[in-house]
Amino acid sequence: MNIILNGRKVEIPPSWTDDTLLFLLREHFGLAGAKFGCGVGLCGACTVIVDGDAVRSCVTPISALEGAEVRTIEGLSDGDRLHPVQEAWLDQAVPQCGYCQAGQIMSAVALLEQTPAPSPEEIDTAMEGNLCRCGTYARIRAAIESAAVRA
Ligand code: FES
Repeated sequence: MNIILNGRKVEIPPSWTDDTLLFLLREHFGLAGAKFGCGVGLCGACTVIVDGDAVRSCVTPISALEGAEVRTIEGLSDGDRLHPVQEAWLDQAVPQCGYCQAGQIMSAVALLEQTPAPSPEEIDTAMEGNLCRCGTYARIRAAIESAAVRA
């Protein structure tokens, strides 16, 4: 089977298709931005974008992804130019320990691609599945609002 990974068509050997998407990204492709957190799809640290939607890669079987377009934090920037959401994250100095942040950013990117000017309630709804044990929620919202204004 094949998937499109950060804009590049990649072949997945049959022996890998029983793995999760998170395992594929981290262990087979060396893309370590998405993190293993809870392992049951509840914390959001493993979030990537599949066909435009934020998904929890730790509970997504590779076998369900034939032909899917998968985007990870590593594919967001355009060369040296950061994605507007990444720029907003830097401007707001969002991260603390950083463990959850790739997942937070991917959820924010999916939100803004689907809803370019989200209301506070829409931001809360889209981001409620991404936990941050450092409590950076206020800065996450400020960064999303800032990125929405820039776009
Ligand atoms: Fe530490 Fe979110 S920045 S868990």
